[in-house]
Amino acid sequence: MTQDLYPVKPEFAERAHIRSMEEYQRLYRLSLDNPEWFWGEQAKALTWFHPWQSVFDADYKEVDFSWFLGGRINASFNCIDRHLATHGDRTALIWAQDEPGVYTHITYRELKHHVCRVANVLLHHGVKKGDRVCLYMTMIPELVYTMLACARIGAVHSVVFGGFSAEALRDRIVDAKCKVVVTANEGLRGGKRVPLKKTVDRAIEGMSMVETVLVARRTDGEVSMEAGRDLWLDEEMTRQRSTCTNEWMGSEDPLFILYTSGSTGKPKGLLHTTGGYLTYAAFTHKMVFDYHPGDIYFCAADIGWVTGHSYIVYGPLANGATSVIFESTPLYPDAGRYWQIVDDLGVNILYTAPTALRALAQAGDEWIKKYSRKSLRILGTVGEPINPEVWRWYHDVVGEGRCTVVDTWWQTETGGILITPLPGVTPTKPGSATLPFFGVKPVIVDPATGAVLEGNDVSGALCLATPWPGTARTVHGDHKRFKDTYFTQYPGYYFTGDGARRDEDGYYWITGRIDDVINVSGHRLGTAEVESALVAHEAVAEAAVVGCPHPIKGQGIYCYVILNQGYANGGKEQLIGALKEQVRQSIGAFAAPDVIHIASGLPKTRSGKIMRRILRKIASAEYEGMGDISTLAEPDVVDRLIKEHQVVSK
Ligand code: WTA
Repeated sequence: MTQDLYPVKPEFAERAHIRSMEEYQRLYRLSLDNPEWFWGEQAKALTWFHPWQSVFDADYKEVDFSWFLGGRINASFNCIDRHLATHGDRTALIWAQDEPGVYTHITYRELKHHVCRVANVLLHHGVKKGDRVCLYMTMIPELVYTMLACARIGAVHSVVFGGFSAEALRDRIVDAKCKVVVTANEGLRGGKRVPLKKTVDRAIEGMSMVETVLVARRTDGEVSMEAGRDLWLDEEMTRQRSTCTNEWMGSEDPLFILYTSGSTGKPKGLLHTTGGYLTYAAFTHKMVFDYHPGDIYFCAADIGWVTGHSYIVYGPLANGATSVIFESTPLYPDAGRYWQIVDDLGVNILYTAPTALRALAQAGDEWIKKYSRKSLRILGTVGEPINPEVWRWYHDVVGEGRCTVVDTWWQTETGGILITPLPGVTPTKPGSATLPFFGVKPVIVDPATGAVLEGNDVSGALCLATPWPGTARTVHGDHKRFKDTYFTQYPGYYFTGDGARRDEDGYYWITGRIDDVINVSGHRLGTAEVESALVAHEAVAEAAVVGCPHPIKGQGIYCYVILNQGYANGGKEQLIGALKEQVRQSIGAFAAPDVIHIASGLPKTRSGKIMRRILRKIASAEYEGMGDISTLAEPDVVDRLIKEHQVVSK
């Protein structure tokens, strides 16, 4: 292993914020020994209206963490107003539109005007501090304006990824009790129109909770507007002043809710608060990407997921950066799209997901070589384990060996990056997220015994031993669920749901989820969500869903389905189509199953528990090493499923 080590490039170390392994180790030690001092120093990079009284407070038994209590701060002020005196004319956002080569530059001063207008629109429609606002949009500047407008007046945004179906959107609106929904008439993505407003209409049909729907105008598409409820955002904005006071938020006041999948069918709304989250997002953005003023920074994620929240909006803007928002896809109109943007805009830092890189690597190097890419310096990746060969391709072909690759591990729950190389510090190994960030203490636990595995060269469940400012504080409306999900399995530790290995050099290798969550093209999905969508179909008696290896998506969705009497014969193809459609309707197109395996039985223990380990193995065509199957109620089922799998996967 050690031979495949990519040393730090000296020219990176020279300009980096942290310039050597020694400096990292010294600061890392300090961050663990004296977190209050360490995080207090970092929080000073932000502008506070009123200083905090204590850096950190915790009630470990209640799983209650507070950072910078007593402090007053506003995220919108920190992302906009405080930059105006020195660099109001600097570009804050570059909107790379779906149409190739079309860019809109928005300066910090312009950003302020737009955000204030939206904030005033929200106030005018009765949105108050603490109210939740649902944002269901694609990648247009109005999405950023609305997020920051909420932050400005103390409302809590809940961004729902634009690929979710009406049903999924409805659940999220209801759970967060949103009175206002902000959307667009249509989105544009890869040349296709996304019927956003239509989906909102279906989601809130018959629902009295939603009083106002604000509709941004992205296309010339006509949509129906319900009088008294639906309003055009641009028309509303022109009625408002371009100035709006920042609410002085308490450090622990909520900033946003973001729904993510877990091991039950019901998605959970992770709640992030203001001072700690913003400190963590800004500091990690600066250190991990070695951000310097003037850099053009391009995170290709979607703002509907946490990566977009922390590393398109809050982190970069708090640092006064120029952040690209990308409306399209890496393959539209062709596989040269990223590199065209890099050359057009002079991008220095690119942050994307392994699934996009796998698709681009497959499309062929000629797409990359067409462009110079000479501005690139840092290449980031996030969202799922990156295959070592794709890592090398990113480093050697995209970066021509000149750039530093940072494989960053983190989660919706963590608010920001936790395990990552630092450009001036860490020799990298393809496929490893390397070492913990400041203040982060990863622990590997034996899942069988719960014992903490000390030393190097160990693998098990990845837990975290110490709190950090960016961590989510609760599940919206269900603190018990927050405690139960993350803090009960391994008492005293936060359990990530991921498996990991710490190698002989102390480097971390994330091996993927060990709970019932799968990662499809970087989209996090609970197998239980897909199962409940499937059993809602009249033909389905029982469903068990697992991930299977997929060359581009990382994981595909493999569904074992037991049919009800009377559906078992005939019309299979049609039924499979109907079941896939059922999942699209219930969750969204990105969750459409790859394989529907109509099964003759499921491997269950005598007490009726499905042995998912066996299902995962069969779905991955690993027929050996099933372990002890003698405890199954019906051991023959394994052989039958293997035979069926061989037919299904042909
Ligand atoms: C996975 C995305 C390996 C992991 C920021 C985690 C990764 C889940 C990496 C969180 C990485 C994220 N290497 N796996 N660098 N980054 N993951 O909440 O399984 O959408 O638990 O947050 O993605 O997904 P989420």
